[in-house]
Amino acid sequence: MRPIYLLLLLLSAISYGQNQLNIPATIETSTIDLTLQEGATQFYSGVSTNTMGANGALLGPTLIMTKGDNVNITVNNQLTDTTTIHWHGMHVAPENDGGPHSIILPGETWNPQFTVMDKAGLNWYHPHLHMQTDRHVSKGIAGLIIVRDAEESGLNLPSTYGVDEFPIVMQTKGFDASGQILVHTELDTSAMVNGTVDAFTDFPAQVIRLRVLNGSSQRVMEFGFSDNRPFSLIGTDGGLLSAPLTNTRYRMAPGQRADILVDLTTSLGQNFQLMSYASELPNAIYGASQPGMGAGATSSLVGYTSNPLNGADYQLLDINVTSPTVGPVLVIPSTLASFTPIAEASANITRSLTFTSAGAMGDLEGPFLINGSSFDMETINYNIPLDNIEIWSITNQTPIAHPFHIHDIQFFILDINGNPPPPELQGYNDVILVPGGMGNIRFIAKFDDFANDTIPFMYHCHMLTHEDMGMMGQFLVTDPSASLEEDNLNVFKLYPNPTNGDNFKIEFSESEEREITVQDGQGRVVKNTSTSLDQFNLDLSGLANGVYTITVIANGNHTSKRIIKQ
Ligand code: C2O
Ligand code: CU
Ligand code: CU
Repeated sequence: MRPIYLLLLLLSAISYGQNQLNIPATIETSTIDLTLQEGATQFYSGVSTNTMGANGALLGPTLIMTKGDNVNITVNNQLTDTTTIHWHGMHVAPENDGGPHSIILPGETWNPQFTVMDKAGLNWYHPHLHMQTDRHVSKGIAGLIIVRDAEESGLNLPSTYGVDEFPIVMQTKGFDASGQILVHTELDTSAMVNGTVDAFTDFPAQVIRLRVLNGSSQRVMEFGFSDNRPFSLIGTDGGLLSAPLTNTRYRMAPGQRADILVDLTTSLGQNFQLMSYASELPNAIYGASQPGMGAGATSSLVGYTSNPLNGADYQLLDINVTSPTVGPVLVIPSTLASFTPIAEASANITRSLTFTSAGAMGDLEGPFLINGSSFDMETINYNIPLDNIEIWSITNQTPIAHPFHIHDIQFFILDINGNPPPPELQGYNDVILVPGGMGNIRFIAKFDDFANDTIPFMYHCHMLTHEDMGMMGQFLVTDPSASLEEDNLNVFKLYPNPTNGDNFKIEFSESEEREITVQDGQGRVVKNTSTSLDQFNLDLSGLANGVYTITVIANGNHTSKRIIKQ
């Protein structure tokens, strides 16, 4: 037996007792201070696990915002790692989005400020440093963002956090033999809600609201209740649906959110469980019993055969229904938000994206490519004119489904494998599971409000191992009406980034006399040189690993970019 199984046996023996569901604290003010920190968490009693969190050892507070708020966020990085924080699902300017270019060095703070423009919905925040996203998310940094608006408050939905509205962050994690969290693992054998394994909670006998996130690194979940009681889906990623949809299951890929009402008015005293019915997941989805489909893909995809959660129905939360609160919500409204999906005919362009595998066919972890390329920090994959209405048509030539996510906007799904989306996918979304084996989805979106000539937005697979290994691209939204009186002398590319220091190049659009300085994380100049070439080799091999700022000075103008040496 490998040590990991010994530990699992040990863990299941000592964790037989149940744990009260953790409910993250809230921050409801428009001044928001988040301190990223390292700490220790006992997922299993007696086993201390090193974790990361915001304002605590694990996860982070739930941020409650209202549309129109001007928020002022300070993210203080007290980790020993460089990282970033991204507001997944929120429509903010690229410089506030927290993608891989907005790095926060250890000991530094980052201060995004923006007006909340989103409709009422559930978003979330998590780190997004290139190649380190899974490490920082799996170690524990993630938090919810609840956005409220006037339309929602007119609906009398349960909206008292922790009383009739409950955060449900579903995750799986893997642990090594000493109880430490595994990164880039397929052995994510522990299921948890809000960081609590074997969780139980009380819900009052009235209409309750669950704000659900699948915050897993890779695993798709099939949300449902043990007694098959129906629930009402009222919202998806970026907003409320037009009317509640009553069902007994909802499939959630990593990164996806759901707004769910459960009518417990006649359930006082009952006990039931929130489950993931992974036995019902079709093949070719991470979490199903068979992860792949098509030529060369079988249950033996490398790295997939040994996880007991694959294809199994497993419990996430044990629920006891207790007395109702004062002034409970007792009815589910029959209509919700009003919105008009963007018409297909209004699109300016269709972009085609294709997923392929760069690894051996049959390797679950790829690496996977988008349009034949792996992510490169210095390559802009698309330039999108501000206010463009675009159709993105995504074809998945790999044997497994990938949850595609895009920053900046919410999209409307036009079709999945040529068929109109089911009612639950007709609202606002920013993650869509693209089926494996030549599956295709098309969505439409408008890229409005925010343009920036230098800072891009990301799109990527939300299976974090895939993202970290390069299944990501980036686009600039630029305003063609703004006059581009840019000084070309200061336009430069750096590559590769990250670099090991050898063969690091700076490329300029034209040759000119320029001064180049390199500063370390403390701002000390560690290199100073000049060139009049249009391509220049900068030898960084003597420098310690870390983040450096490269500044180019031409004609008295300074332009800086950051690089990572590792
Ligand atoms: Cu949830 Cu690009 O991220
Ligand atoms: Cu995002
Ligand atoms: Cu993927």
